[in-house]
Amino acid sequence: MNGQDIRGQADALAERYPDLRDRVDPSRVERLLGEAAKDAVHRDDFGSSAEGGRGQSYVAAQRSTHTRAHGINQLARLFTERSRAQSDVVLDLLGGDGLVARVLESTGTTAPRVITCDASPFMVEAAWAQGIPALLQRAESLLFHTGSVGGVLLAYGTHHIPEADRQRVADEAFRVIEPGGVFVLHDFLAGSPVDTWFTKVVDVYAATGHDHPHFQLEETESLLTSAGFTDVELLSLDDPFVVKGPTREQAELELGRYLVDMYGLVALVDEYGPEDAARRAFELACDIFQYERPEPARSAVCAEPDTVGDQWTVTMPREALVAVGRRPPRDVAA
Ligand SMILES: C[S@@+](CC[C@H](N)C(=O)[O-])C[C@H]1O[C@@H](n2cnc3c(N)ncnc32)[C@H](O)[C@@H]1O
Repeated sequence: MNGQDIRGQADALAERYPDLRDRVDPSRVERLLGEAAKDAVHRDDFGSSAEGGRGQSYVAAQRSTHTRAHGINQLARLFTERSRAQSDVVLDLLGGDGLVARVLESTGTTAPRVITCDASPFMVEAAWAQGIPALLQRAESLLFHTGSVGGVLLAYGTHHIPEADRQRVADEAFRVIEPGGVFVLHDFLAGSPVDTWFTKVVDVYAATGHDHPHFQLEETESLLTSAGFTDVELLSLDDPFVVKGPTREQAELELGRYLVDMYGLVALVDEYGPEDAARRAFELACDIFQYERPEPARSAVCAEPDTVGDQWTVTMPREALVAVGRRPPRDVAA
């Protein structure tokens, strides 16, 4: 599937999910195509390397569906536990190459039904290439009809949305969610180890740099309440990277390789070569990902032999900030 072919994507999506046939608004599609033709240029950090992006190595890292499965499964549960909407369809607005959908598929999770959406044609194409239906749209101007989906997920990249556009994105999520449906916003706190990682490592070693402010608690809550969501909760989510290897050393290197690919740390590879870049990325992660938690095993990067089999598991802790809000039920909204 061509990543730019929004009409083709919408038709193929409706073929896969016939109940979605009328939920994409053709007039919004035509407007977006018109704007694209008028040359509304947006920077695409997740495009191909030929376009100056880090899409290829990002997609290579996402071949592993178990590394971030722990956090993704918890996010999916927030929808099934909190939603009172009729529809089980959730739009994954920053869906990339469909990792969230693939993780849920790999664990046999059938609800919610996640529809991958993304602003990068490269990512949308990569999702289709892996059998995941995806739609090219921007989070700040969704192509879906008002009140047409059960929920919206904004996760794993929310800080990429400029501060000036964040309220518009929350407002758009509110618009497309049906009464009783749920919005989940996931990111990382400003000043947290994840923020430090982006500033000290990704901004320095990735070709795209990384100048995107993370979130403050007050800002996050206010985005949801200002959009009209009620029952807003702020949660902390255990969202680690988990990798395995036949020895401790190989599992640690595997985490390093994952970090190099996931964040496109090309300058680290130029400086150290591929093998030592992975080792260096692992060392940097050990220095940076440290949390004050009662359980030592979840406070810092930790390697443990599996109790069954002869593998080692390395876990890199990350604590995500999650805000959940519900669109008021119809009688309250009316
Ligand atoms: C870090 S990736 C996350 C992809 C996937 N959810 C994952 O966890 O692997 C962030 C994605 O957000 C997309 N993105 C950034 N800004 C966007 C916007 N305004 N609207 C839609 N997608 C956007 C990027 O193209 C990229 O694919």
